[in-house]
Amino acid sequence: MKSLVWIVALLAAVHYGSCMDSREAFLEQLRSVRAQMSTEAMYKRRLMTLVESICPGYAEPVENATLKAISCFELLDEESETACSLVKNSFKTCISPIVNVFEECLPATGKQLPNFAVDAVLAVSEHICRIDGEHIIELSNKCFRNVNYRTQKCIKRNQAKVQQYLRDKKFPSVQETCELMDSNKACLDSHLASACGNSITREAFLDVFKVLKNVCNTYSQSSQNNIELLY
Ligand SMILES: *[C@@H]1O[C@H](CO)[C@@H](O)[C@H](O)[C@H]1NC(C)=O
Repeated sequence: MKSLVWIVALLAAVHYGSCMDSREAFLEQLRSVRAQMSTEAMYKRRLMTLVESICPGYAEPVENATLKAISCFELLDEESETACSLVKNSFKTCISPIVNVFEECLPATGKQLPNFAVDAVLAVSEHICRIDGEHIIELSNKCFRNVNYRTQKCIKRNQAKVQQYLRDKKFPSVQETCELMDSNKACLDSHLASACGNSITREAFLDVFKVLKNVCNTYSQSSQNNIELLY
């Protein structure tokens, strides 16, 4: 049985800017993850545990929706489209069964989050498809993984927040998610300053942050519009 690894793989591939390395490299990455069948069962167990803690009783619908999404991704015409156009044209459609299940089961505060996540992925992948090769290559620069003491502290703080949400059985709203992201801007700045010497690398990562920030802004505008409509 296939698992969410596929989708995680797609996201990872998008994040690593495979658009530029041509469709072949993109598909190669998908295939290599597919080959790691042994880790698949582990991922699945972990994800299902997570699903149960977020949406109790929804493990099976989520699994079914995931299988639907996977078969949608598999039907995509790899021959006639570039990786960029595949993501642009089909990601939202293929992922929609999963979005729908989560919209159904999440508490009211979190209902916008699945769509927000999809929009964020689309915005980042469209950004990567637009920028030049040098910036794309810098996004896979390993310097970003040089975690120092301060970065470690930031990561721990985020993990603590996520665990707090899980413990409280609460779900963050889009606004809270965006605030959490904002609260990490200083962490990102200091991390990049100490981990990545090249200014193009730093710019490439900060641009991705800006893209996500823009997605946040469109959501906060739309919720303001909703409030205005009430008056
Ligand atoms: C999930 O899919 C299986 C097999 O198609 C089906 O029997 C089952 O009823 C589905 N479960 C839900 C909750 O949709």
